[in-house]
Amino acid sequence: MTDPLWSGRFSKSLAPDLREFSRSLHFDRRLWPQDIQCTQAHAAALERAGILTSEEKEMVDEALASAAASLADGTFQFEEADEDIHSALERFLTHELGETGAKIHAGRSRNDLVVTDLRMWLKSAILDIASGVHGLQQALADQSRAHENVLAPGYTHLQRAQPVLLPHLLLAHCFALARDFERLMDAYRHADMSCLGAAAFAGTSVPLDPAETARDLGFSKVFENAADAVSARDFALVFLSAAAILGVNLSRLGEEIVIWTSTEFGFASLDDAYATGSSIMPQKKNPDVAELARAKSARLTSDLVHLLVVLKGLPLAYNRDLQEDKEPVFDAADCLIGTLPALTGAVETLTFDYGRLDEAARGQTAGATDLAEAMVLQGVPFREAHEAVGKLVARAEALGNDLTDVSEETLAAFHPSLTAGMLQVLDPRISVNARSSHGGTAPDRIAEQLASVEAVLGAQRELLDSLTVPL
Ligand code: ARG
Repeated sequence: MTDPLWSGRFSKSLAPDLREFSRSLHFDRRLWPQDIQCTQAHAAALERAGILTSEEKEMVDEALASAAASLADGTFQFEEADEDIHSALERFLTHELGETGAKIHAGRSRNDLVVTDLRMWLKSAILDIASGVHGLQQALADQSRAHENVLAPGYTHLQRAQPVLLPHLLLAHCFALARDFERLMDAYRHADMSCLGAAAFAGTSVPLDPAETARDLGFSKVFENAADAVSARDFALVFLSAAAILGVNLSRLGEEIVIWTSTEFGFASLDDAYATGSSIMPQKKNPDVAELARAKSARLTSDLVHLLVVLKGLPLAYNRDLQEDKEPVFDAADCLIGTLPALTGAVETLTFDYGRLDEAARGQTAGATDLAEAMVLQGVPFREAHEAVGKLVARAEALGNDLTDVSEETLAAFHPSLTAGMLQVLDPRISVNARSSHGGTAPDRIAEQLASVEAVLGAQRELLDSLTVPL
């Protein structure tokens, strides 16, 4: 078996169980496209530094192209001694090119290589996730546009609170996702720094130009301190925090869909293509997509906690603990890249039951706040109005009536300012139209919110189109 890259000072080969224990190839092999890019850029740097001739650099490029082809089609031959993707590729180059291949690691360490690979990978993954978040926002905005005038009951404490327009609720999720998008782009900026040229942690005597390598690899920044470059993983924490918060927001949207599609609420139905059946109960149509979206927040949270705990108390500079950074990052990205399109499809195809929504929006006492506000507009102190309407609600509930079913005399007995004419605010349309304060649910306000979301979506699209990560 081939010796590991570092075997020079060792008199014994590695114990097989330690070899297995310390290997990361099974999860870091997916970094191969980045490792090839970084190796190409490093070969160019070595050529500029006079370590590789231009012929040698060309040989390296050709060998890398053939490695890329076999890695892409799954025919690349890994060996037992390949600890990780970086050693596998270097071993391949040395095997293919002899002395020329053996020159490639000059001025480079796996420490600066692995973190640069990961930063590159993450930039690309973040763009995929951000476009998934963008797509979900678009689906919510489209549903809002399609249901601009549909009434819906609004809840606090999951008790019917006040009638609103359906887009008021859909856009609330959309605004939350717009902030998720911002956080992801912040994570992109944190990841966007090349660390190649830092070597093990203290720089190198090989005359490299890390800023030029950074430019070759499409990074907008280069590290400033080599020890920081190889040991910092806060860029991954920024991503995992954004991912965990996004996961929580998706879980809340998922829960909303579970509630809305339940028989008890019956406000919405999932399209058959986005619902699942029961193996035993033939009548069941289950919202698994929304439930899974709700549950994924658990693993996204644990991915963040995983890396926080790995990093806590680590001394400078590189420590092997840092090998444990990749799995949570990959897991969080995979989880979101899987969840977002499924949830987007479910939202896009969700149908609403206008009758049920309307009936619930008209629920007997949903206009109580509006009635109290109507009294306030007549000059009644709010607390006094709240008290009078509260008593009126208690009476209606005791009699099984709704608030509109009260005579002029009874109203006056509850408060001298109350008249039958004021009861018109109990009509949910009138009530919704009246709530025209900034960010409120009146039609004009919803139109403003929708326009603002659509402007944000346009800006997001432009930003996504302007960013590409070389792969
Ligand atoms: N597989 C390692 C990692 O993921 C690569 C770096 C190894 N560096 C070292 N000094 N052993 O971190």
